[in-house]
Amino acid sequence: MKPLRALLVGAGGMGRTWASALTGNPDVCLVGWVDLVTERVLEGIEAVGLTDVAVDDDLDVALGKWLPDFVVDVAPPEAHHEVTRRCLARGVPVLGEKPIASSLDEARDLVEFSRRTETLFVVSQNRRYNPGLVAFRRLVLSRLGGIGALSADFYSGYHFEGFREEMASPLLLDMAVHTFDAARYITGADARSVYCTEFNPPWSWYRGAASATVDFELSAGIRFSYRGSWCAEGLETSPDAEWRAIGAFGSAKWDGSSNPVAEVRTGGAKGAALERIEAAPAPMPEEGIAASLVDFLRALRTGEPAMNDCKDNIKSFAMVMAALASSASGERVAIGP
Ligand SMILES: NC(=O)c1ccc[n+]([C@@H]2O[C@H](COP(=O)([O-])OP(=O)(O)OC[C@H]3O[C@@H](n4cnc5c(N)ncnc54)[C@H](O)[C@@H]3O)[C@@H](O)[C@H]2O)c1
Repeated sequence: MKPLRALLVGAGGMGRTWASALTGNPDVCLVGWVDLVTERVLEGIEAVGLTDVAVDDDLDVALGKWLPDFVVDVAPPEAHHEVTRRCLARGVPVLGEKPIASSLDEARDLVEFSRRTETLFVVSQNRRYNPGLVAFRRLVLSRLGGIGALSADFYSGYHFEGFREEMASPLLLDMAVHTFDAARYITGADARSVYCTEFNPPWSWYRGAASATVDFELSAGIRFSYRGSWCAEGLETSPDAEWRAIGAFGSAKWDGSSNPVAEVRTGGAKGAALERIEAAPAPMPEEGIAASLVDFLRALRTGEPAMNDCKDNIKSFAMVMAALASSASGERVAIGP
């Protein structure tokens, strides 16, 4: 089968990671790389060690000239709507970095536009493709006798340069979507309402709120609580967060890097001793963005749904936007189906 022609948009840190992933996949030929700032692409090409990749600073020109089979959008969140719409308007499928867009109206417009143009739009929610997360999900779903409560803690003191230090809600808008999406993946449930408080500690090096506590009510009566900070130095958690799930038969934990563990009363028998279980990481041929790309290519080639099709991914983004609305209003906010 002929490799599919890819056009990459955005040449920041994550753009380079995507350039490596695209050139590392034998089913893909990276034909062009676009950024508003041409020097970034040229530096990226040298850093990644690419040859035969065309460069432009204008997406429409690049789409017309290089006729890609698909686009990977790694521009900042506020450009996702414009970049994705331009591609879908020409019938070019898009694999976009998270978050799907920078507002719910934009995200809804893209989902509707993808439906209307019958053009695939998938969001790369790459942290779903983690052998530890997949193993934790299996453990939780198979051994707890149902899930009553799920919690995740995320603490990091990362110093970024660029858009995150200036945006209004960097933790919720740029990072928490990974953890909220993972909560939907683990439970198979969608969010129904949320209460959230965002805050920015006095020592924070971000302009916007870099910390939050969030309480979600999910379908099937599951509670999901999240605590996070992006200006917490020392004793950092895994970027995949630290998780605990509680069910009728016992509890399961995953620290985001070692093997998930559970302590459960087997079969739920009252008075039975607790059994300790350690789950091995799920075997996966590819992980992270490489796996996200494989899933997108499968959907593109076969027409079967991708795990993170925009129609589904918007539900994780809606959790973020409802949390922001709750923080702004001080009220619990309903999240629609
Ligand atoms: N999945 C992950 O783990 C992960 C990690 C980091 C970043 N990201 C996501 O990747 C995206 C990019 O992040 P980054 O850290 O590389 O950002 P960055 O700011 O380092 O780079 C973004 C690049 O996009 C370019 N750009 C801006 N608007 C553009 C437009 N309209 N058309 C073409 N190029 C444009 C900028 O000039 C810049 O070079 C964001 O959506 C971010 O949330 C995801």
